[in-house]
Amino acid sequence: MRPQPDFIHEFVPGKSDRTLLLLHGTGGSERDLVPLGQELDPNASLLSPRGKTLENGMPRFFRRLAEGVFDLEDLRKRTNELADFLISAAKHYEIDNKQIVAVGYSNGANIAASMLLVRPEILSAAILFRAMVPLVPETTPDLSATRVLISEGDDDPIVSAAEAGRLAGLLRRAGADVTIRFFQSGHELTTDDVDLAREWLTRVVD
Ligand code: MLT
Repeated sequence: MRPQPDFIHEFVPGKSDRTLLLLHGTGGSERDLVPLGQELDPNASLLSPRGKTLENGMPRFFRRLAEGVFDLEDLRKRTNELADFLISAAKHYEIDNKQIVAVGYSNGANIAASMLLVRPEILSAAILFRAMVPLVPETTPDLSATRVLISEGDDDPIVSAAEAGRLAGLLRRAGADVTIRFFQSGHELTTDDVDLAREWLTRVVD
């Protein structure tokens, strides 16, 4: 028997070769984004881990020192841990590791962005809802084969437009094909975000 991948997670097998890696926000769980994943691509497999760090009992994907101030050592460690989990989960569930698309919200979007920058070989594309710059890597990764959608809120009290722009710039300098959009919203997701992401997945990633 193969070893069980070591994050608490949900896996929903799909009909196509694509897998959506669903990464929840602070205080979420592995179940949170499953309906969103089904809405974005009803044919994809869904892999949804639960963040291993707890902040006052709330699961997260890495530690933070304050709102928007990250524990970079923990972030690097957790990013590598999640990337390694994906490799073993891809073997375990026999999913195509060249067609993994991250869909992250808030803290989940930040670890997805970190994975793009630190382990650029893992994801083929990423949808980042309400993301910020997680870290600036020492060496610029090669993301020339990677597509990224960044979807932000105009009135987000956590992610400023400048911060979102900085993330888009960082990913573009690494060669990624980046689309960035702002909607009339705060930190919460809207149906506009979901409609855009669904359409982008069909048009850009297929
Ligand atoms: C983070 O900690 O990743 C960001 O501040 C977003 C959040 O989870 O609130």
